[in-house]
Amino acid sequence: MLQLEGVSLTLDDGDQGPREVLNNINLTLEDERFYAFTGPNGGGKTSLAKVIMGIYQPTEGRLLHNGVDITGMSITERAQRGIIYAFQNPPRFKGIRVSDLIHIANTELDEKEIHLLLHDVGLCPEDYLDREVNNSLSGGEMRRVEIATSLARNGNLMIFDEPEAGVDLWTFQQLVFMIIQQHERRKNTTMVITHSERFLTVSDEIMLIAGGEIAERGSKDQIWPLIKDDITCRWRDRCGGDANDPNCYR
Ligand SMILES: Nc1ncnc2c1ncn2[C@@H]1O[C@H](COP(=O)(O)OP(=O)(O)OP(=O)(O)O)[C@@H](O)[C@H]1O
Ligand SMILES: [Mg+2]
Repeated sequence: MLQLEGVSLTLDDGDQGPREVLNNINLTLEDERFYAFTGPNGGGKTSLAKVIMGIYQPTEGRLLHNGVDITGMSITERAQRGIIYAFQNPPRFKGIRVSDLIHIANTELDEKEIHLLLHDVGLCPEDYLDREVNNSLSGGEMRRVEIATSLARNGNLMIFDEPEAGVDLWTFQQLVFMIIQQHERRKNTTMVITHSERFLTVSDEIMLIAGGEIAERGSKDQIWPLIKDDITCRWRDRCGGDANDPNCYR
């Protein structure tokens, strides 16, 4: 179980000064549940995932994983505890091959298991095992390598950040199936950040993240109409519709 208590995050990119990206998030992710996180671009979904993974340190609040305070823990320590994050924009590693990356993720996998993993994400092992994880991989190829690497890790809290983005239609169904299947097989907690209706349909609960807050949460039947209504405008309306107000819609 993962609990976030009063988590806020302020980031400063240097140009426009500090800005609050997450605002007092209180959230419990129960064991063995499948969550979809959705919401408008810039709402704070990736920032939230990065706070959970330890890439960003919250400005306020704390995180508990299975009752243990992990707020001060490094990315490595969190990964050792079974928290795994598949990046929206995966980093590339010059000089490292796809097979090396998967071996690093899980040293216990044998060659056959690595082949199967690549097959599962729609990559032909013969073509990709020796490819370098550098800029020569296309966006969609890189995304599939990232998902294969995450699946190799076998965590108890798996976070996939827009796994469907940039992936072709032929592979999309297979990828969705893989992510649902790993959840059912391993009985882990899965958090998929997504704009895909398919993931919303299969999730136990949907969180709508907007303006750095959990704007709404519920079933697909409750949340889907809000998404279709354009949540960004709804959120803005709630703040009085002042587009110049930086706290209004970020
Ligand atoms: N390093 C940073 N420095 C300053 N602001 C940042 C930084 N990273 C993200 N932001 C801002 O924080 C807000 C939330 O960004 P985030 O990437 O979490 O959104 P998102 O919900 O994942 O959006 P998308 O659906 O486009 O992926 C955005 O306004 C973004 O510009
Ligand atoms: Mg994002």
